[in-house]
Amino acid sequence: MRETTGLRVNGRTVSAADPAKRLLDFLRDDLDLTGAKEGCGMGECGACTVLVDGEPVCSCLVLVGQVADAEVVTAEGLAAQGLHPVQEAFVQAHASQCGFCTPGMIVSAAALLARDPRPDEEAVRLALAGNLCRCTGYASIFAALQRTREP
Ligand code: FES
Ligand code: FES
Repeated sequence: MRETTGLRVNGRTVSAADPAKRLLDFLRDDLDLTGAKEGCGMGECGACTVLVDGEPVCSCLVLVGQVADAEVVTAEGLAAQGLHPVQEAFVQAHASQCGFCTPGMIVSAAALLARDPRPDEEAVRLALAGNLCRCTGYASIFAALQRTREP
C-alpha cells in the first residue's frame, strides 16, 4: 500500500496520495487552488510560484514528496485574512491585465516584502526577475510595489 504524504497548504494539513505528483498539479487538481498557473512547465516563467517555508518556488518543478511537512502558501492563502498588501497594491495600480502571471508575481513580491518591507527598485526587479509578464510591460507592477513602500 502506498503511503500518503502530509503537508500544510495555506494553514491546513492536507494529505497527498501520490508523492510523485507535481506540487502544481496537486494544488490545482486535488485542492482546487487554481491561483498558481502552468505557463512553461519548466521553471522559466514563474506563473506557478508558491511559497514553500516562505521562499518562492516554482511548483511545476517540485514533487509533493519533496515538500512533505513543509508549509506551502499560495496566492489564495495570502488573501485568507483579506487582501494581502501586495494584492491590494496590484488592484490600486491596475497591475494586472490578463492576470495569468499575477498570482505568481504577487507571491514573489510578498516573499520580498516579508524579508525587506521597503525594498528599493533594484531589489524589486531582482525579486521579480523570475516572473514573466507578457501584458503589462512591468511598469504597473513596479508601481504597485512602489505603493507598498508608501507610508
Ligand atoms: Fe512553472 Fe513556468 S509553469 S515556471
Ligand atoms: Fe498578462 Fe502578466 S498580466 S501575463
